[in-house]
Amino acid sequence: MKRSGTVIVLSVIIVVLAVGLVAVLLFMKNQPAPVRGVTPLVEIAQMEADSAKWGLNFPNQYSSLLKTETNNTQTAYAGSNPFSKLEKDPRLLTLFAGYSFSKEYNEDRGHLNTLTDVRAIKRVDEKTHATCYSCKSANNPGLWDEMGMAAYDKMLFSEMTPRLNQPIGCANCHEANTMKLIVTNPALEEALEAQGKDWRTFTRQEMRTIVCANCHVEYYFKGDDKYLVFPWAKGTRIEQISEFYQDIEFIDWTHPQSGTPMIKMQHPDYELFSADSTHFKAGVSCGDCHMPYTRDGAAKFSTHNVHSPLLNAEAACGACHTDVEYVTGRVSQIQNQVWATMEATEDALVDAIQTLEAAAATAGVDETILAEGRNLHRESQLRWDFIAAESSMGFHNPEEALRILADATNLARQAQIKAIEAAGTPGILQSNQ
Ligand code: HEC
Ligand code: HEC
Ligand code: HEC
Ligand code: HEC
Repeated sequence: MKRSGTVIVLSVIIVVLAVGLVAVLLFMKNQPAPVRGVTPLVEIAQMEADSAKWGLNFPNQYSSLLKTETNNTQTAYAGSNPFSKLEKDPRLLTLFAGYSFSKEYNEDRGHLNTLTDVRAIKRVDEKTHATCYSCKSANNPGLWDEMGMAAYDKMLFSEMTPRLNQPIGCANCHEANTMKLIVTNPALEEALEAQGKDWRTFTRQEMRTIVCANCHVEYYFKGDDKYLVFPWAKGTRIEQISEFYQDIEFIDWTHPQSGTPMIKMQHPDYELFSADSTHFKAGVSCGDCHMPYTRDGAAKFSTHNVHSPLLNAEAACGACHTDVEYVTGRVSQIQNQVWATMEATEDALVDAIQTLEAAAATAGVDETILAEGRNLHRESQLRWDFIAAESSMGFHNPEEALRILADATNLARQAQIKAIEAAGTPGILQSNQ
């Protein structure tokens, strides 16, 4: 009796549960299909080079990226008109004498022009390596993965040309399945590693800066195989970069007038910005100013039309500053001051070069002192170039820019004095001025 009672109770429970289950299943079957915030329309392959495919899922980001092809508006010191820096400032012809940058040196343009622009530049010749393509194409992440960066860099530019058909695109900054920001350039991964840093531990805000450091950095090509390296092993300040280059005795070219072994700086936007600038210290990222949130109807997204923030200051600065007119006014003041200081540095450098040239041509010149003078020239010019090649005319870090330019001017004047000392006569000053 006791046992059959238990059986009845259990049977009732089972029946109740079964009915409940059927009811839940029927309810679920009659629900509309689940909808997520972002419905992936198409599956995107990892490292897909063609941004148009990603664009099917993310039309706003894609269409704003497309605008970088034609956003050619000039600002006082930047913008996107590919004006010639050599025509604007003929002193550069002396500073870069004997080097390819004295052939052609233009203002940069938007991300979609990278392949067109690198292929048109006169600095590229038949000996140029594929390494020059490192920052220019969305095909790269896939190729680096497939062949390794060493094999990529070993190839010639001309051999690589047919393998690249995409300018900068989604694959340069995002992981396909998660859309997370990632480091895609092996040279950046290695440079961070050399400093004991792992980007996988970075915060989202840090990634919004480091993703730009895939390309907007100083770099050099190591050895005959032209392996891409960021010279950060000692740190990313100009003094540490200079020390790194001194140690490995790296030179880009020998200046034909002064006889100095020289280094050309690239575009150290990340290094200058991260050298304790006010914005960097406050946790502001490159993305905050260059890719602010934008609205298109109901959609809110990061604009991928990356350009000078002065062209959309309301969005770029207005998210944090209430007085946008005041802060953009500060930009012009800072840039004018940095430009004026830079002109003084360039004058000092031209004087140093001409005096070193005259000293070298003087009979009985003291070669040891002359070499010291050349070293001062090198140290001065790479400091000047760190600020000149940087893209913001000092705005990214005004204090640091002015500090470096002051050092550079001082070093150039010291180089000139050494040249006079080497020649043993100030008479060489008259011969060239
Ligand atoms: C606080 C805002 C701000 C932050 C943060 C910032 N920038 Fe800028 N950036 C500017 C301004 C302002 C200019 C100057 C634009 C001009 O002169 O037209 C500029 C100029 C540039 C340019 C040249 C633009 C052109 O039109 O040619 C590049 C490239 C650039 N920044 C990259 C970066 C990178 C990379 C980072 C992060 C490492 C960064 N910026 C961080 C505000 C910012
Ligand atoms: C130069 C680097 C870069 C490229 C190229 C790039 N993105 Fe982004 N993308 C970013 C950054 C930076 C953010 C802001 C991420 C954040 O806030 O965490 C972002 C954000 C996004 C987001 C998140 C939503 C939003 O708008 O903030 C999506 C989706 C996205 N990008 C799609 C794309 C697609 C699609 C492409 C190619 C058509 C692309 N991105 C190309 C850097 C890039
Ligand atoms: C894959 C390499 C790469 C990445 C990643 C990259 N850039 Fe660029 N960027 C370039 C190159 C190369 C140019 C110059 C293109 C030209 O002149 O054809 C450029 C140009 C620019 C310009 C000048 C645009 C103009 O209209 O003059 C700005 C501003 C800029 N980048 C900001 C950024 C910011 C901010 C990030 C990170 C969110 C970033 N870039 C990430 C390679 C890159
Ligand atoms: C994500 C927030 C953020 C954005 C975006 C931003 N700023 Fe700032 N800015 C700050 C903070 C934080 C400070 C430092 C605190 C302070 O003094 O107000 C600062 C300070 C400044 C200063 C004073 C720096 C000094 O040392 O005198 C200027 C000038 C400035 N910003 C200009 C700009 C311009 C121009 C833009 C747009 C291109 C911009 N900022 C975009 C947050 C931002």
